[in-house]
This record gives sequence, structure tokens and C-alpha cells, in this order.
Amino acid sequence: MSKANLKYKDESWDFREADTKEYTHCFHAYPAMMIPQIARKLLKAYGVENGWLLDPYCGTGTSLVEASLFGMHSVGCDINPLVRLIANVKSTRICLSALDETLNRLNNDLFQIEFQEGKVPDAPIPDILNLTYWFSKEVIKSLAYLRAWINKIEDETVRNFILVAFSETVREVSYTRNGEFKLYRMSAERLKDFNPDVFGLLSKKLSRNRQGLATFLEKRKNVEASVSNANTVQGELPLPRPLGGYDLVVTSPPYGDSHTTVAYGQFSRLAAEWIGLPNARKIDKIAMGGQRSKETLTDSPVSSAIEKIHSVDEKRAREVLAFYIDLERSINSVAQMLSPNATICYVVGNRRVKEVMLPTDAFIVSAFRQHGFTHKATIVRNIPNKRMPKKNSPSNIAGQTSTTMHEENIVICQRTTRNHNF
Ligand SMILES: C[S@@+](CC[C@H](N)C(=O)[O-])C[C@H]1O[C@@H](n2cnc3c(N)ncnc32)[C@H](O)[C@@H]1O
Repeated sequence: MSKANLKYKDESWDFREADTKEYTHCFHAYPAMMIPQIARKLLKAYGVENGWLLDPYCGTGTSLVEASLFGMHSVGCDINPLVRLIANVKSTRICLSALDETLNRLNNDLFQIEFQEGKVPDAPIPDILNLTYWFSKEVIKSLAYLRAWINKIEDETVRNFILVAFSETVREVSYTRNGEFKLYRMSAERLKDFNPDVFGLLSKKLSRNRQGLATFLEKRKNVEASVSNANTVQGELPLPRPLGGYDLVVTSPPYGDSHTTVAYGQFSRLAAEWIGLPNARKIDKIAMGGQRSKETLTDSPVSSAIEKIHSVDEKRAREVLAFYIDLERSINSVAQMLSPNATICYVVGNRRVKEVMLPTDAFIVSAFRQHGFTHKATIVRNIPNKRMPKKNSPSNIAGQTSTTMHEENIVICQRTTRNHNF
């Protein structure tokens, strides 16, 4: 791979030893998070001070946080309400004195329960399917108390800050297996000794996040950041829309449909249900590639790969096709909102299905070309620390794995035409 080919490997993008949890980036784990250093380096190269950044699949908001630190206004979209909450809390301003007042009250109340009353007061238990399959009775009681306590907080920014720590706590005190994205229950062996300290865990997360927030607020520029539920696949466009269009896109779209790649919905479900967020059980269906389509793609960089998959497994080929159709629709919406000089940076993995490599990077270049963009570079980086399944089973045969997901591509294109309407 040479620079002359526009696609080249550059290990300076690996960030092997980097601290990926600075500022508000420490707030909440999520599968396949973008590391902040990538967004930071892209902003340094292509950012426009006081300009506008868009992340159409913002997840927990890594690019929004970095845009706020750099000095760009930002808008993120995601179909998953849990990550919209997280991205929002991570990127907006929160009044530290109001937060501290509430955190002190919470700490006092929890201290009193633990060391004086010795018993968690009753609180309404949410109506969640199979609740006792995922949580012990004691844990349910503690979570219900916390949930009721948090819901009484009047200041929305403070309430949301605490909800984010609560969300991560829910996952960690549940019987879900650690290190899995899908909802799998722990082994019976592990369950026997599993006795998590719910209040202790929440308090630890709150103080970690409080510290991250303080360092973020010190460096955060005076810019706007917002999160939208607009689904660009359906042609919905987020607000606000900057007058001259967005200057920069820094994003990492899903690798494929959620059912066969990363199950964002399953990862978020229990926390979303405890918080009472909508569609908690539907995310993987609503996500890109979640629904079959009757359309097809002609002359696309992924067409021949999909044909090869089709020759061995029609159903898998249709699933793969559905994903790329959605991705193209989304790019058509995104391109409408971009400025005449915009730069787009898409961080994508070329996954394998049935031993066939899908060139998603080339697909992105080709889709943006239709909108007046020129391919500037595709940087190939190693993934030393991204939280995602490193080994997928391309053939779906147990034991047969591929290591393609150890690398990802940063696709960079720039618009060269100046006569776009938006
Ligand atoms: C790779 S993750 C993004 C991670 C993010 N960069 C971060 O650092 O947390 C991809 C995201 O795309 C979202 N997604 C899937 N389909 C979508 C759609 N149609 N519109 C917007 N977001 C979508 C998923 O919910 C997921 O959060």
C-alpha cells in the first residue's frame, strides 16, 4: 500500500499507548467506540474554528466531545436513545455547583441507608420483562431506590449526568456476562458468588465522571453541541442546520447490520429499560440494515462481493445488501447538508461474510463521489484497543475465525464542486 494509491497504512493512527478515557470520554462504555485521538487528529487537519461538525451515527458522542474541545459546533444523530442521552451529557455544559449539591445529597442518603438504617427503602419496581432473570432481588431493590431518587432531581442536566452513571451501573450489576455485547447470562457457577455493591459502584462512577467533567469544562470552547434522533436513512435531517452547511463529518458508522455484527441494542437494553427510554427492545431492528429492502445496488464497489455471498447463501447476501442500501440512503441525506468545501471522514471496517471481504471503504468513496466529493486518502490503522469482537466467524462455522477486524480504514473525501443546493 503506497501513498500514491491514496490508500496506505499509517501506524501513527494506531495510538497504542494513548489514554482514551480523558475528559468526558470516561463516562460510559459502548461497543466499537471511536477513540478520541482519531477525532482529535482529524479535527486538527480538517476542522474549521467556529464551523460545524456532523456525526450522523454519533454513538456516545466521541466526535462531539472533541469538536467542543477543538472549537467547532456539533450535531450528532443516533437511533439509540441511550447513547443519545450519553452523548448529550458528555458534550454539553453542566453547572458544577448544582451537580455537587445533588451529589452530596445522594451520598448522604446512601451513607445513611448503608450505615444507619441498614435497609434499602421500598420504591416502585419498573415493569421489565424477565427482570429477575437478569438481576437478583437485592439488586432490583437498590436500583429501584436509585431510579426513584434520580427521577426526583429537577435540574435536567444534573439528572441526566447521574442517569449516565446509573446506566453503566445497571449493566455491571446485572447477570450479563462481562465483555459480551449480546445479552448472555453468566454461568451458574459465577452467579453463586455474584453479589455486587450497587451503591458503591454508582458512587465510584459518579466521582470518576465528575472528575472527567471538570477537566472537560475547563477546556471546552464556547460552542454548541446537540444530539438528534433524525434517522438519515429515512431522509430525516437533524436540526440545527448551519446556514452554509456542515463543514466536517467525523463518524464511525456501524460495520454491518446489528444482528450479525455489533448488537448495540442488546448492549443497551437493560439500562434503557430501567431508565424508561423508548424502543429499548427494537434498536437492532431500527438500526441500519435491520430491515430487508426490495431495492438493489448496481455497479457498486460491493456488488461483486455480494454476488459471491449470494452464490453460497442467499439470505446472508440479502442481509448484507440491506445494510449497504441503508448506508447509501444515509449518505445521500448527509451529503445534502454539507458545505461546498466540506470534508468527510468515515472510519469503517471491511468485514468478511462467508469468506468474502466487503470493501466498505471503497463503497463510501463511491457514494460520496456522486455528490461532488473527491477521494483524498484512506488511512489504514490497526485497532489495538477498540471494544468490539476482534474475531468474527465469517463462515458462521464455530472455530473458523477471521482477523480482518484488527484493522480499520479512515476514509477522507473533500467536496470540490461549488454549486450544491441545500
Ligand atoms: C460504531 S457505533 C458509533 C460509535 C461512536 N463513534 C462512539 O464513539 O461511541 C455506530 C452507531 O450507529 C448507530 N446507528 C445504527 N443505525 C443508525 C441509523 N440509521 N442512524 C443513526 N445511527 C445509527 C448505532 O446505534 C451505533 O450507536
